Amino acid sequence: MELILSRTPAAAIEADALLVISFTDERAGNDLTEGLVSELYDRGEFTGKALETAIVHRPGPLRAARLVLLGGGDKAKFGPNDMRKLGGLAVRTLKPKGFKNIAIALSGELLSVKMVEALVEGAILGDFEPDQLKTDKKNADKKIEQFRISVPDETVELVNALRSGRAIGEAQNFARTLVNQPGNLLTPLKLAAEAKTMAEEFGLGCEILDEAQMRQLGMGALLGVSMGSAEPPAFVILRYTPPSPPTTEDHLAIVGKGVTFDTGGISIKPSDGMEKMKYDMGGAAAVFGAMRAIAQLKPAIPVTAIAPCVENMPGSKAQRPGDIVTTYQGKTVEVLNTDAEGRLILADALTYAARHGCTHLVNAATLTGAIAVALGHLYSGVFSNNEELQAKVLSASKLEGERMWPFPMDEDYKEYLKSAFADIGNIGGRWGGSITAAKFLEEFVENKPWVHLDIAGVAWLDDGKPFLAKGPTGTPVRTFVRLALNW
Ligand code: BES
Ligand code: ZN
Ligand code: ZN
Repeated sequence: MELILSRTPAAAIEADALLVISFTDERAGNDLTEGLVSELYDRGEFTGKALETAIVHRPGPLRAARLVLLGGGDKAKFGPNDMRKLGGLAVRTLKPKGFKNIAIALSGELLSVKMVEALVEGAILGDFEPDQLKTDKKNADKKIEQFRISVPDETVELVNALRSGRAIGEAQNFARTLVNQPGNLLTPLKLAAEAKTMAEEFGLGCEILDEAQMRQLGMGALLGVSMGSAEPPAFVILRYTPPSPPTTEDHLAIVGKGVTFDTGGISIKPSDGMEKMKYDMGGAAAVFGAMRAIAQLKPAIPVTAIAPCVENMPGSKAQRPGDIVTTYQGKTVEVLNTDAEGRLILADALTYAARHGCTHLVNAATLTGAIAVALGHLYSGVFSNNEELQAKVLSASKLEGERMWPFPMDEDYKEYLKSAFADIGNIGGRWGGSITAAKFLEEFVENKPWVHLDIAGVAWLDDGKPFLAKGPTGTPVRTFVRLALNW
């Protein structure tokens, strides 16, 4: 999809469709169409409520073949996060109907850097289909070829907004493409290879530690998880260095859980729904996606992405419940449940980040089913040892419309993790499961400011939305990118 900024006035735009955002409390586009819009409202065919659509053929004096009304809801509350959804809605509504060239004219409150960026992101996200492996390409010719955004003045700021919206949207789709690949095709080595290819294309540093190197470093927690699989593990490190000497001493690490398939290991999961455990590398995919955009948008802060990649299988060499492993940091862990594997691989990855020059750590992981019990599928859980960094992450997430909610991290929760035979157990019992998982991770960050995002409830969309396909969401790519850009 080609995204174009132009200055053609709305009425003069030649396209298959001109999009007009209209509201419950304000009718838009009426002047352009000699009253057509008002007629729709008066007849109750369109009310302007959020995500509503109406298609009008041969609309009055417009050069466009169709007028497509998009409902914006209450105008006073309309913001970039609503704009992002409308971008996706337009593409997902019109693409299956064979529209090829669509356009929108932005002015007034709807015209700003954030609005253009969000619209572009939304259009690109809406364009993603999780059908890469279907051989029946009957819809292959149904493509939005051009999405034109008409503005009164093509300022440098707006040109940049289009560019960054595109970079971020494509980065998030890159993450979604990775997550969508099943476990047989996307093994840990394959995931690492995909990260490497991307890093080479976008000029990032890339280092991949193999099993022998991990053994040498003493990453016993990560290797314990990997033992049950015939697929070797990979420890991926991607490096972004700002073009001009950094103005900050800070160095951000983004760390993502990369379990390419989670059977649970010997503490095996029930088979119902297990197929979805291919998305257990959603954290790793999100950090790779974020780095893809960061490489293009060049924030001032150095960023290192780290992804421990493994498969959690119950093979004959698998670790057993009750096994005790020694982490990279040195603490021993009693593996009371082999299905609590994410925290084991992240423990070693977080310590690695802390010991290799990163000053601030943010990780994303599909870590616990309990987070969806607490928050449903709308919010990621936020867990931190540092209020300042947590506030930064929350503000980035708010700007990007990726909802996140902070949880308590009182010291008392640590008691839930005690083990009779090792320094710590890897599970904390029935209650507060997402918090005890986070308390486990906290033990391995070496007192660095750290935020953990539990994305198990939001990384996968069971039912598609009018603006987004079902399947992998790519959360929290945008928050990571914004965090780095606004540092
Ligand atoms: N990958 C799962 C968490 C998960 C569950 C992600 C549902 C997405 C959807 C994780 O490795 C896991 O199995 N966690 C266990 C922890 C328990 C054994 C303490 C869980 O949540 O049940
Ligand atoms: Zn698990
Ligand atoms: Zn898992």
